[in-house]
Amino acid sequence: MKKIGVLIGSLRKDSYNKKIAENFIKLAPASLSFEVIEIGNLPLYNEDLEIGNIPSSWINFRTKIQNLDGVIFFTPEYNRSIPGALKNALDVGSRPSGQSAWAGKAGAVISISTGGLSAFGANHVLRQSMVSLNVPMMQQPEGYIGNVKNVFDENGNLVEGTARFLTRFAEAFAKWVHLISH
Ligand code: FNR
Repeated sequence: MKKIGVLIGSLRKDSYNKKIAENFIKLAPASLSFEVIEIGNLPLYNEDLEIGNIPSSWINFRTKIQNLDGVIFFTPEYNRSIPGALKNALDVGSRPSGQSAWAGKAGAVISISTGGLSAFGANHVLRQSMVSLNVPMMQQPEGYIGNVKNVFDENGNLVEGTARFLTRFAEAFAKWVHLISH
């Protein structure tokens, strides 16, 4: 069983990213276990706090990331980039210098927007940081969901096409995690 951390770029209670993540977890193969890892409680990264006064939320977050085999991001796009809360989580996990919690995890991203461009910008801004953090990100299939309001029916269930896409994405990600993490 491979342990996967789920990071959601939106802090909103009724977040579409959160809803897609919850559906993804249900559709994924049994060879993966998931934990949603909170990012909204992490104080903004400040190197001064590393000296003697490290926030306990930072320590818990780093330990959780270290114990993972893989990580999957569900993120909106804020002003053509990733939300600040998500960037902050990447930074918190990357320090102290030389002790990054991220290195060697298998990664993937699904970007999600209410608009038509599927948060393409955020998807690729995230990939840029993950190169530096040594998290190999799954290349294919790429995960873009645009016009997300339309992928739920009147009962709040995913429409069939999107459920099929998430299932296929999860199967590919399971293979990716088994390839990258030992
Ligand atoms: C947005 N939104 C947005 N959408 C997009 O496709 N490209 C963008 O650059 C932006 N920029 C942006 C900035 C800010 C500050 C906010 C609050 C929103 C809209 C965004 O896609 C929409 O709010 C999503 O519903 C956010 O995802 P959650 O919270 O539903 O998961």
